[in-house]
Amino acid sequence: MSHATHTVQTEPFDGQKPGTSGLRKKVREFQQPRYLENFVQSVFDTMGDCRGKRLVVGGDGRYYNEHAINVIAAMAVANGFAEVLVGQGGILSTPAASCVIRKYRADGGLILSASHNPGGPEEDFGIKFNGANGGPASEQLTAEIYERTRTIERYHVADIGSLDLNRLGDVACGETSIRVLDSVADYAALMETLFDFEQISALISHGKFHMRFDAMNAVTGPYARAILEDRLGAKPGTVMRAEPLPDFGGHHPDPNLVHAHELVALMNSDEPMAFGAASDGDGDRNMILGSGIYINPCDSLAILAANAHLVPGYQNGLSGVARSMPTSRAVDAVARALDIPCFETPTGWKFFGNLLDAGRITLCGEESFGTGSDHVREKDGLWAVLFWLNVIAAREQSAKAIVRDHWQKYGRTFFTRHDYEAVEPALAERVYAGLADQLDQLVGREVGDFRIEHADNFSYTDPIDGSVSTGQGLRLLMESGARAVLRLSGTGTSGATLRVYFDCHQPDPSRHGSDAQRALAPLIQAFEEISQLRAITGRCQPDVIT
Ligand code: G1P
Ligand code: ZN
Repeated sequence: MSHATHTVQTEPFDGQKPGTSGLRKKVREFQQPRYLENFVQSVFDTMGDCRGKRLVVGGDGRYYNEHAINVIAAMAVANGFAEVLVGQGGILSTPAASCVIRKYRADGGLILSASHNPGGPEEDFGIKFNGANGGPASEQLTAEIYERTRTIERYHVADIGSLDLNRLGDVACGETSIRVLDSVADYAALMETLFDFEQISALISHGKFHMRFDAMNAVTGPYARAILEDRLGAKPGTVMRAEPLPDFGGHHPDPNLVHAHELVALMNSDEPMAFGAASDGDGDRNMILGSGIYINPCDSLAILAANAHLVPGYQNGLSGVARSMPTSRAVDAVARALDIPCFETPTGWKFFGNLLDAGRITLCGEESFGTGSDHVREKDGLWAVLFWLNVIAAREQSAKAIVRDHWQKYGRTFFTRHDYEAVEPALAERVYAGLADQLDQLVGREVGDFRIEHADNFSYTDPIDGSVSTGQGLRLLMESGARAVLRLSGTGTSGATLRVYFDCHQPDPSRHGSDAQRALAPLIQAFEEISQLRAITGRCQPDVIT
C-alpha cells in the first residue's frame, strides 16, 4: 500500500538540547505542535540518508508513549527507513531496546522515557537516541542533533493511520516494513546466555528463599514476571507492582529507599525477605536489598566485579571496570586486586560506550543505581538482580554475609549522595560558581578535621577517541582520602538540582557497622563550611539522601 507523505514547514524550538540522558521535558512541552517532530527529524537528519536503514522504537509505557511511537513511525516511513522494529504495546525497557538494536543490527533506536521521573499528563516525558552499538549517542552526536534542532525548517511525515501495537508481526507501509516484536523474548534469551539459570532456579523456586522484585508499576513488570516467575520458578507475586501504568500509579518510579518504601517495609517486617530489588521507570536502574542490609550501588558494583568469576557469562575474567567519577572508589580496590584497569568517567552512561566497544571494560556502574556490562550498551536493572541472585546461589551465602566478607577483605567505602531538588536556578548557580571560583585557593586549607589536598573541576579525555569533556563536577579531595563532589544535575525538569557526593574509606572492620550518614557527618559539615550550600539555598537538609 502506498502512503501519502508530506513535508511540513517548521521553526526551531528553544531548548531542545539533550541532557545527561536525552531530551527530557514536561509532557505539556512535548505536546506543543511540531515539538516532538522537530526533534525526531533532527535525529533523522543527523543519521544521514535514512533509506534502507533499520530503526528500533520503544519506551517505558508512560503517558504519551503510544502517541510518540505513532508519530515516529509515520516520520520513519516518510524518511524512507527500510524497517522499524517496535516493542509490543510500544514497550521496550531501555536495556531491552539496547539488546534489540544490537541483535537486529539496527542503525539506531529512539527510546521514549524520562527514566525515574514521574509520568502522566502533568509530568515528564523524554526521548533519547541510541546508535548502532545500542548505546546512548556520544557527546559529539548529541551536539550535532542539538545544532540541527536550532536550524530545522521542515520535517517529513506519512499518513499511516494508527498502528496496532499489540499485534505481533510485520505491516508494510510503502517502502517501510513496521514490525511489532515481543518486548521480552530477545532480552530474556540474552540473560539466559549470561547467568546460570539452573542454579538460580534451584535457589528461588523451592519456596524457602523469600524475595520480592518491585517493578514500581513501570516497564520491568513484564520482564521480571517472565524471567523470575515463569522461567526461574519464583512464586507468583514475587514481582510486585508488576503492571506498567502510564502514570506509574502516581508514584516516582525511582528505586531508592524513599520511593520503594513498600519493599523496604517488607524487608524490615517480622518475616523479612532474604532478597529484595527494585527497578526504575525504564528498567535500567536497580536497587538491591538483603535481609537487614541496603547495598549501596557503589558497593554493589565492587561486589559484582569481585564475584564475576562465579557467573558463567563472566567466568573468563573481566578486561577492566569503570565507574562514573562521583561513584565511590570501592570498585577501584577490586580492580587493583584483580590487576585489571579501572576507568573514571564523567556522569552518564554514554561515557562507558567507547570503553565497552573497544573491549577495555566488562563491568561498569554509577552510584545512581546503575550497573551494567558489555552485554548491552545501557545500564541494566534486571541484569543486576540476576547477577546478585547468581552470586548468592553460587556462594550459598546471604547477601549480607557477602557484603560483610567483601568489606572485611577490601575495607568499606562509606558513600552518600545528597540531592537538593527544584532549587532556584540562580541560587544553585551561586553555590556552584562560588565553589568553582574558590578551587584555586582551597589546596592546603584546613576545615574541621580535614586538610584539602586537591581541588578541581573534573575533566575527562576519552582514551579511545581522545575527545575531551570538561566541567564534569567539582571535586575536593582531602588528605585523609575522603572526597566531596558537587554537580548540577543534567536530568531534572524543574528548577535546578544540586547533587553532593561524599565518600571515605574505612579499612578497620570494627568500624564497618556504622551508619553512612554518621560516618560521613564530619565531611558533610566541612563541605557546608566551604560551599555554604545550605546557607545560600536556605535549605536545611537535602530532599533526597541515597
Ligand atoms: C542522573 C544520574 C546519572 C545517570 C543519569 C541518567 O543524572 O546522576 O548517574 O546517568 O541520571 O540515568 P544527573 O541528573 O545527575 O545529571
Ligand atoms: Zn532509567
